[in-house]
Amino acid sequence: MNQKKISNQAITRRFKKYNNIKINGFLLRGGVRMDAFMQSRANKRFVSEKTFNRTITVGDQDALKKFSFKRVVIDEELINKLSPNNIDCCHFWKKATEYFPLGSILYSANCKNKTELNEASLKAHEAWGAFGLLKSILEKNESAKILEIGPGYGAIAGFVAENYNLENYYAIDVNPLFKYKKLFKTDGKTIPEQIPNDLDVVYSVNVFQHLTPEQRLSYFEQIKDKLVVGGKFIFSMFVVAPDTEEIMIQDPNSGHIHPIFGFQDKQGNYYINFFSQFTRCNTIHELIDIFTNLNMKLELISKTVNSYCICATKL
Ligand SMILES: C[S@@+](CC[C@H](N)C(=O)[O-])C[C@H]1O[C@@H](n2cnc3c(N)ncnc32)[C@H](O)[C@@H]1O
Repeated sequence: MNQKKISNQAITRRFKKYNNIKINGFLLRGGVRMDAFMQSRANKRFVSEKTFNRTITVGDQDALKKFSFKRVVIDEELINKLSPNNIDCCHFWKKATEYFPLGSILYSANCKNKTELNEASLKAHEAWGAFGLLKSILEKNESAKILEIGPGYGAIAGFVAENYNLENYYAIDVNPLFKYKKLFKTDGKTIPEQIPNDLDVVYSVNVFQHLTPEQRLSYFEQIKDKLVVGGKFIFSMFVVAPDTEEIMIQDPNSGHIHPIFGFQDKQGNYYINFFSQFTRCNTIHELIDIFTNLNMKLELISKTVNSYCICATKL
């Protein structure tokens, strides 16, 4: 794929705004506008439906080879400035959910309220394989002790309350969105001490792509410590793998066709963006290395074009 530094002055000007922003004065609103603008500009630099004249499906990838796509190369300084390592991620997520109460939790699900969103979340978790695995564990062991990282509005908590004993369910979040005595606030990389050390399951869907590799590693190490032997860490996140890094998708609204992982740094690492944050999507090899070093057995539960659902078992 043709990689070229985009010298789009308009994008650069908008990024420059951030040079003067203090961490706690982080202007999410401005960030969102900039972000939407940047996305659309970036996508326009790729090929549009009009040019290509038909809808691209993932299976159609060969047809795209004749086009030369350009990726947006993002500046390291900007990545660092807005990295969850360097901003207050509790504040960031609080603001994100204030401005976009539904879309920040489950993007483009077309839900009207939190109840509908929780239903859509469970369907998504089911489709990714994570929820099915959790249910099969609970069917075998009704009192399995569970920790959920980043529970959103509590779709899983609702499921556990309805079918099992909620007393065995714990959750942590940088921005707790529902009231529950065992939902604890975290700094974004630490499992609070209130969480027991004999967990059967740690569960997390659609969260780890928003973290930096350092935050992820910090959680992964603590998760291993908190699990019982045989305990399972089930998670689903965006992952770049050699067979997916070049995949093109088509935006259903704009019709623009662009690489699924359109942002890279100068070293060629891939990024996803969430509002104005860019976070590196670990390649699958990095995850394999981490869990091998932690001596945890890795199983791929399911895979889509941009995400993996993985189960890591403590040996
Ligand atoms: C995209 S939402 C997904 C919510 C839920 N898991 C679902 O699938 O519906 C991400 C959730 O993770 C939380 N979160 C983001 N970064 C986090 C971190 N570093 N540690 C814990 N929670 C985090 C957010 O506050 C939010 O509740």
